[in-house]
This record gives sequence, structure tokens and C-alpha cells, in this order.
Amino acid sequence: MSEQKKVIFSGMQPSGVITLGNYLGALKNWTNLQDEYNCLYCIVDMHAITVRQDPAVLRKNSRDLLMLYIAAGLDPEKNVIYMQSHVSGHAELAWILNCFTYMGELNRMTQFKDKSQKHSDNVNVGLFAYPALMAADILLYQTDLVPVGVDQKQHLELARDIAIRFNNTHGDTFKVPEPYISKVGAKIMSLQDPTKKMSKSDEDTNASVSILDDPDTIVRKFKRAVTDSDTVVRFDPENKPGVSNLMTIYSVATGMTMQQIETEFEGQGYGSFKLKVAEAVVEELRPLQDKFKQLAKDKTYIDTIIKKNAETANYLAAKTLRKVQKKVGFVPISR
Ligand code: TYM
Repeated sequence: MSEQKKVIFSGMQPSGVITLGNYLGALKNWTNLQDEYNCLYCIVDMHAITVRQDPAVLRKNSRDLLMLYIAAGLDPEKNVIYMQSHVSGHAELAWILNCFTYMGELNRMTQFKDKSQKHSDNVNVGLFAYPALMAADILLYQTDLVPVGVDQKQHLELARDIAIRFNNTHGDTFKVPEPYISKVGAKIMSLQDPTKKMSKSDEDTNASVSILDDPDTIVRKFKRAVTDSDTVVRFDPENKPGVSNLMTIYSVATGMTMQQIETEFEGQGYGSFKLKVAEAVVEELRPLQDKFKQLAKDKTYIDTIIKKNAETANYLAAKTLRKVQKKVGFVPISR
């Protein structure tokens, strides 16, 4: 990794096949950063177990997610693509950062509130402390920028606060990271309730598009997308959330501005608009899906990537971890 380049870190939970929201809000943007920055992209399996997972399914989802990163265009030779659980530094730093994180701060996290409501039979300590682990993920690599969707902004602000608090107590240790959120697509909404974000855990399968959905399924889901009783394709998230969401998806997939989209569909009904959006999504995902199918056939190659990148990540993580352990007063092993 080049010393001069800034560091990017981000991750996704392998808690199911990722959605079009994950892709347009995060993964697609990551692929544009790989030349300019030193990038680490993690499969955050340790975060995923804050809600119950079937071990066999988690294993499959984690490998699939790694392949999806590559299939989306992340070059595993240029980017450090790895499993969180392969780098024990994440858990070790998380423990230390737990001791710099207040209960009150964690209590305010909306993701914790949402998930503890959804999984009320399993409100575990890991779910509560999740943002401290996320801070550890980021701070472990002296990250400059964190490309995420809007929903992760609150966690990122907390990571910054924790870094600043630690630095104030023990002297300059961590780089204070900045969020990197794209202007369009950072919050893709549910196709069935456009006031809610698209989520892989939505029970209504028509609400979200999986990035591995086949073309017919994608078309069907877009045809059923909730819009409004009007007929005009106009960008107005407040009053026309469904149509505006579809326009956002179309905009990110085609690179067109909202103005251009409004002009393209002037005088046309929602039917042809929805179909065009679906087709654009199918075309956007086609190369990724083809590459994914190819990668899935080459287990040995994926195993090699997993091993090699885990070694790189461990090497990088150790540098910060040793520094932090020293600062808090842990006795070093003499060499
Ligand atoms: P996760 O796995 O929920 O989501 C992965 C990424 O996708 C973005 N995203 C969306 N973007 C646009 N529209 C949507 N509907 C949508 N849904 C999700 C998320 O903002 C995220 O960028 N806590 C994180 C994972 C994580 C992480 C980290 C991220 C763990 N450690 C360190 C960055 C840095 C999460 O649960 O993302």
C-alpha cells in the first residue's frame, strides 16, 4: 500500500444477499475509489452475529459477499478485501474503545433502537456495543474516508467522537475519519413503502431488489413499485416519494440528471417509466451477475484471495493496535 495515498475503509454485513440499496448507496461508489486511495473493504461477519445467524448460511453469505465485491469491480489485488473475523485486532481494539464509549451514546443509536425492537427476544450486549466495534474497524487502519449510505452517518459521528476522546486522553493516536456520502443514491427507499429505506431484512420480498435477482424478477418488482395517483414523472421526494425513488435509481444507473429524466418521460405514464427503470437496473447488474457466476466456480482462487488479504489486513491492523495498547499502558512483550 502506498504511504502517500489516503485510506478508505468500509464494510457490509453478510446478513443476506445485498440489495440494490447497498449497491447503489455504497458498493458501486467503492469501485470508483480504488485508484486514488488505499482501500480496505471488509465483510463484517462479527457485526452480523449481533442477530442470530445460521452458521452455514453465514459462511455462504460471507463468501458470496466477498465475490460480489469483486464482481462489482473491486480488484482484490488493489483493494484489501477481507473477513472481519480474520483480523483479531478488530475485537481487541473494540474492547479498548468500549472503555471510551458511553452508555448514553450507544442508547441514542437509531440502528440499536430499530434492531432491538425487531429482535426483542435477543437484545444482546453485542448489538448494543456494535458502534464501538464499527469505530474499531475504521480507526484500526488510520482511515481518512468512510464511504457509506446515509443510514450509517450516526455511527460514523460516534466513531469520530470516540477517536477525538481517545486522542484527547492519550495524545494523537487515531486519524479522525470523515464520512463520504454520495449526493444521489445514498438512501434508496423500499419499493413498497418509499418512506422507509430499502433493507435486506424486509419481510416483503417485493420491497427490495437483491443484486442477484434475475431480470424477470427485477421487472416484476419494479412494475409493482408503489408510486402515487398522479401521472407526472417529477422529482419531489416530499410529495412524490415513490416516483422520486425510482428516479434516483434511474439516475444512478444511467448517470442522467433529474432534469433529463423528467424530460425523457414527459407525457408518458408510470407504466413505461417503471419498465425503463427496471431495464436500466437489469443492465446495470448484468455484468456483475455474470462475473459472480464465474467467480463462484473458482473456489481455489477465492480461497487464495481470502488468505492473502487477511494477511495484509492483519499486518496493517497490528501497527495501530500496538500503538494503542502502549498508550493505554499494556506491558509490551520484549523482543
Ligand atoms: P449495512 O451492511 O447495513 O449496509 C452496507 C452499506 O450499504 C448502505 N446502505 C444503503 N445505501 C443506500 N440506500 C439504502 N437503502 C441502503 N441500505 C444500506 C449502508 O449505508 C452501508 O454503507 N454498520 C454497517 C457495516 C459496517 C461498516 C463498518 C461500514 C461495519 N463496520 C465500518 C463502514 C465502516 C452496516 O450495517 O452496513
